[in-house]
Amino acid sequence: MSEIPKYAVMGNPVSHSKSPLIHSLFAEQCGIELEYRAIHVNEGSFEAAVRQFRVIGGKGLNITVPFKLEAWQLADRRSKRAELAGAVNTLKFLDSGKIYGENTDGQGMLQDIVVNLGKAVKQAKVLVVGAGGAVRGVLGPLLEAEPAIVHIANRTAAKAHELAAVFSGFGPCTASGLGDIRSAAYDIVINGTAASLQGNVPDLPGSIFADGALAYDMMYGSEPTTFLVWADNAGAAHCSDGLGMLVEQAAESFVVWHGVRPQTEAVIQQLRQ
Ligand SMILES: NC(=O)c1ccc[n+]([C@@H]2O[C@H](COP(=O)([O-])OP(=O)(O)OC[C@H]3O[C@@H](n4cnc5c(N)ncnc54)[C@H](OP(=O)(O)O)[C@@H]3O)[C@@H](O)[C@H]2O)c1
Repeated sequence: MSEIPKYAVMGNPVSHSKSPLIHSLFAEQCGIELEYRAIHVNEGSFEAAVRQFRVIGGKGLNITVPFKLEAWQLADRRSKRAELAGAVNTLKFLDSGKIYGENTDGQGMLQDIVVNLGKAVKQAKVLVVGAGGAVRGVLGPLLEAEPAIVHIANRTAAKAHELAAVFSGFGPCTASGLGDIRSAAYDIVINGTAASLQGNVPDLPGSIFADGALAYDMMYGSEPTTFLVWADNAGAAHCSDGLGMLVEQAAESFVVWHGVRPQTEAVIQQLRQ
């Protein structure tokens, strides 16, 4: 009897992760038999945990905070997106014994904004707030979608400038501190900071939203995030959290492992309930 292929998400903390539920719903929908669980890994033990998972029949892993950089280092081969992102959220164990690394966060966010929310990125003026791992992961796919401009604004301005220097070769990309945002009107404002986690809002001018603008928070929760409450009051026409991004990045990981893209709409609705 052949063993059920094993998949998992590794992180710390990870018990809150919705990935096991998302991947089991995808698997059921596609008629693929698999086992998917969340594995808590202590800092300093990531590489050993990955090797151990492979020994027991693991086929692939999702990687979340704080191990995306270590996953990037561990991968023998990486996609162009992962290479640019400097972080990996999906590992696939190849039959050759090598490990392939991909980053699906940016593609997941684009799919959610363009397809699920119906907001065009092409020719849009986009403000990205934050300059941490999540923002670095989405800038490549965002610039591939040919916006008019991507402006990166971060509390620590130097980090925003570093990212703009890396990504300006891929499309129009500028940077500043939060208080120095020049252009008044953006079509899409993406909060990629960890501020909502602490119930805070980045210190932004209230005049950043163009008519019909979308405010998008990569964070999600059962209630609107503090950023989305602020954006609604500041005049954003549409507000969305990052739950759709979570499901769409998972769907992209599913493609990497199984070669088939599951339907996401029903899964997003199920998670919202
Ligand atoms: N939906 C999804 O699928 C998905 C996927 C990935 C990440 N995320 C979310 O994205 C967010 C960022 O994650 P990350 O991995 O990029 O974190 P990170 O690498 O730790 O970066 C944190 C960023 O937030 C900024 N920041 C933190 N507190 C702030 C505050 N009070 N005011 C203004 N800026 C603040 C930091 O600015 P400084 O540089 O000045 O410190 C930095 O730019 C998290 O909420 C995470 O849950 C969602």
